[in-house]
Amino acid sequence: MLEVTALPLAELRARTSEKWREYPDDVLPLFVAETDFPLAPAVADALQHAVATGDTGYIASRNPLAGSYAAFARRRFGWDADAERMRSTADVSMGIVEILRRVVSPGERVVVTTPVYPPFFELVTEAGGIVERVPLRDTGTGWELDLEAIRSALDDGVRAVLLCNPHNPTGTVHSRDSLAALAALADEYGAAVVSDEIHAPLAQPGTGYTPFLAVSDDARRVGYAVVSASKAFNLAGLKCALMVTAADSTSAVVRDLPIEVEWRTGQFGLLAAVAAFSEESDPWLDGLLHTLDQNRRLVADLLAAHLPDARYRIPDAGYLAWIDLTGLGWGENPARRILRDAKVALHYGPAFGGEGAGHVRLNFGTSPEIITEAIERIAALVER
Ligand SMILES: Cc1ncc(COP(=O)(O)O)c(C=O)c1O
Repeated sequence: MLEVTALPLAELRARTSEKWREYPDDVLPLFVAETDFPLAPAVADALQHAVATGDTGYIASRNPLAGSYAAFARRRFGWDADAERMRSTADVSMGIVEILRRVVSPGERVVVTTPVYPPFFELVTEAGGIVERVPLRDTGTGWELDLEAIRSALDDGVRAVLLCNPHNPTGTVHSRDSLAALAALADEYGAAVVSDEIHAPLAQPGTGYTPFLAVSDDARRVGYAVVSASKAFNLAGLKCALMVTAADSTSAVVRDLPIEVEWRTGQFGLLAAVAAFSEESDPWLDGLLHTLDQNRRLVADLLAAHLPDARYRIPDAGYLAWIDLTGLGWGENPARRILRDAKVALHYGPAFGGEGAGHVRLNFGTSPEIITEAIERIAALVER
């Protein structure tokens, strides 16, 4: 395992991406899902080599991406994904939209399980569908799919489920049993499941992450997964994702997409993803998971010490903390006050759906120092 440590604030402020340009320098930016770590060495080498050789053209139609993802999935998840049944595109959002366009007709409904990554609402609409919100069930210790409510929605004519596995913002790794039950339901009603698995490489060991398509024959019949190296390896700006299928009918849907959908894949994104998925990057990814494991616990310790009225469950995956601040009485959207008075930028809870009232989402893909300072700044508002 490599030690993966976030860059110091002064270096981060030299970055020009959304995280570092949206707010002035007195704000600690813990909102958008970018991370503050240096690139994995193999990724940096691949990109530097491309720059040195001017390798900046179109992606090659014969390229190693699908094969490298299949090998990654086998090593990391024990899943035998078939490289012949994958196609690339620019990003996960685009993959979701292109698939939804083919599996739902205009005006048909698509389940999203709120609270959820806010662009899901727009992606369904962009694809011509109508959002059907089916909130996750709060079990008291975590969240799970509300299978009965999803059955009712399917029974009522919903045509697809847009799944988030692992789930953003709660960090929930859905259990294999719940995924198998969802697949069986979708199969029974002839509906599709589009599974966004962008956070999968960041599922913590022992949390039982299962790729949707690995769950059952039902899942393989009804399912499409959209995957990317972009969250774990912080490559969102380079534009590369994969649409993965596991049955003839679903593979045909993806195979029949216009070639242009595939050509939008970024060449830098593809080169970086191949390096990220290679075995050479495993020690870096293990090191990142270790750092994130410490950070997710640090958030719990800091909240317990400084903001005991906040409610937070340690996520199974990723670098996003979903924090319920209802107990502080800071209203529907506490992130507004936190930005104004504590100079910490968090994601607005209500953007994730009605269940997000009183909540914030904090990005802990950074250093312990920045996490500590952010939570101390927020706590100082209570003391004021
Ligand atoms: C669940 C989820 N899906 C999709 C995305 C966006 O991915 P992309 O930039 O590949 O469209 C994000 C970004 O944070 C995400 O959390």
